[in-house]
Amino acid sequence: MPTARLFVLALVALFALSGALRAAELQPVTFAKDVAPIMQERCQECHHVDAMAPMSLVTYEEVRPWARAIRQKVITRQMPPWHIDMTVGVQKFKNDMSLTEAQINTIVRWVDAGAPQGDMKDMPPPKQFADGNEWKATKELGPPDLVVKAEHYTMPAKGQDVWWRSLSTIPLTEPRWLKAVEIRPGTLKGRKITHHVVAYLQQDDPDGLSDPEMNRGLLMEWAVNKGYDMHAPDTGKLIMPGAKISWDAHLHAVGEQIRDNAEIGLWLYPKGQEPKHRTYLTAFQALRSFSGSKTAGGARNIDIPPNTISTADNYTVLKKAARIENFQPHMHLRGKAMAVEAILPDGNVQQVSYVGNFTFNWMTNYIYDDDAAPIFPKGTIIHVTAWYDNTRANPNNPDPEQWVGFGDRTVDEMGHAWMNVTYLSDEEYTSAVAKNKTRQTASK
Ligand code: HEC
Repeated sequence: MPTARLFVLALVALFALSGALRAAELQPVTFAKDVAPIMQERCQECHHVDAMAPMSLVTYEEVRPWARAIRQKVITRQMPPWHIDMTVGVQKFKNDMSLTEAQINTIVRWVDAGAPQGDMKDMPPPKQFADGNEWKATKELGPPDLVVKAEHYTMPAKGQDVWWRSLSTIPLTEPRWLKAVEIRPGTLKGRKITHHVVAYLQQDDPDGLSDPEMNRGLLMEWAVNKGYDMHAPDTGKLIMPGAKISWDAHLHAVGEQIRDNAEIGLWLYPKGQEPKHRTYLTAFQALRSFSGSKTAGGARNIDIPPNTISTADNYTVLKKAARIENFQPHMHLRGKAMAVEAILPDGNVQQVSYVGNFTFNWMTNYIYDDDAAPIFPKGTIIHVTAWYDNTRANPNNPDPEQWVGFGDRTVDEMGHAWMNVTYLSDEEYTSAVAKNKTRQTASK
């Protein structure tokens, strides 16, 4: 074909294509047809009457006044509360609640077009919300073997947010292997005041593979929409007699007095059955210890001057080959960002995860998809970096004029990455790598 004709053909094709694109763009975006389905899929579990978010986003009348705020929160990816940078390291998660770029575009175009309602005939059928308070794992696993309750708390009708802490003992007289866990507020009303609940396991570590200074690990974190956490097949966590659960519940007032206590259901492997792999709760530190000090926690070195942005970082060597199952950054009110990278024995550096806009309000646990969870050889160094914003620019900062040091209170700081680590033998590591060469999302 002569070049001239090809050129004309190409022009025609290009014109047709841009026309089609423009037509798609000119299609008016409406609440009924385009936005309501996104609200149902990604927002309403938290934003409906009786749920924990401050307003319902179910009907057009409810959503319309929030249009501008919604636009702002979705383009900055503050809502839904999924703050991990999806372009860094592991990119597939079991509990991903983020919006796609296309969904964000739809919302932005809708708001920019004046947030029209559209034809109510286009509305999807309303989403049904579970009105019971049953354990979600029951369908798959039956009722829990043990239920452990936190202490009650009575949240007044009005007042500041509360971080309610209590300690309960797990009623076990012999070591048992844990298969699954689920946390729930004790009552339906309790769901209204419960922003999130974190349950830490406190016990002595029999074989010293956990962080020696912190034999206190994340057992489960609960937030709305959360199901249960089940270990991979033939994998479990060993619970020792005398183990305790330390609770940290973030509660907020909702205009009526509500008394509630969180509870955790534990599903165990049958007595005598020991899973092949053990998962260790590990706090990979970003903070370094003062040299020579052996005290836990209190010796952590952190020094955040007033009106500054500071960083801290630290290294931990994996004593065996391992699979990393999840990432939950832990900082307090000045926390700004956290990065985890792995330095492999051959010197290559692999990004694992990065949360760029950490918000203390949301203790989100990012659970890696089974075939995305990174596996590393023995001797890999996990490098954690934490950033703190002690300036006025940080909306959570109670007082940028204060110097901040290490401590338990939310006005003090901490810095570690909670990760569940499943150790593998060298053979298991080799065969896992061979099986799935693509699982390591290397970037150097
Ligand atoms: C996991 C629960 C959850 C999900 C999912 C969620 N939200 Fe929220 N949202 C909240 C809570 C709780 C707040 C109150 C502020 C906070 O705690 O961060 C909030 C606050 C907001 C605000 C700010 C309200 C104000 O007072 O300024 C907007 C706007 C918002 N959400 C929109 C959305 C949209 C749109 C979606 C879905 C695309 C969504 N949210 C998904 C829980 C959620």
